[in-house]
Amino acid sequence: MQLQDFFSDCAALVRREGAPSDIVAAIAPRMRTLLSGARSFLRAEHCRADAAHYARNLVHAAPDGSLALFALVWAPGQWTPVHDHGTWGVVGVVEGMLVEQAYMRTDANSHEARDAGIELVRGGLVLLPPGAVSTFVPNPDHIHMTGVPPNEARTISLHLYGRMLSSFHVYDLATGTRRLFDAPHSES
Ligand SMILES: [Fe+2]
Repeated sequence: MQLQDFFSDCAALVRREGAPSDIVAAIAPRMRTLLSGARSFLRAEHCRADAAHYARNLVHAAPDGSLALFALVWAPGQWTPVHDHGTWGVVGVVEGMLVEQAYMRTDANSHEARDAGIELVRGGLVLLPPGAVSTFVPNPDHIHMTGVPPNEARTISLHLYGRMLSSFHVYDLATGTRRLFDAPHSES
């Protein structure tokens, strides 16, 4: 599947499907197909790494900011902070192995939006080899940490979101707080 076809399919699906769960269910198999042809559209600038932290390279975005596809490049041992997204997402692994560690809120009334008094416990994790696809929806916040263990190879993954995701919440487990984090990315 070509990137432009994937993107126009996704835009149509977003217009047609109302619920985030329906959107990710429809896009997941398309992401799997896109992965098989990822080498044809991923250019060198999409595969840029950063020694300081995982690299987030913009591959394509809808003009209205309603869809954004990033290539994330992970050196062994690089992880995100614990974070949420404020939208749905579909993730596919091109090479290496990506680990997703889930977190669950256990504080009372955890559906309420607040920045303190947040209790999180670690949930399960999934190991995503090449070709694997993972999805999430906000409920209201889908909270996790993603990365690559030190003993694994460089990993490249594709991340499609329902917004530009130029900022998201980062959680501090020790203090039970969260703050909005401006997420930099590279554009080619
Ligand atoms: Fe994430």
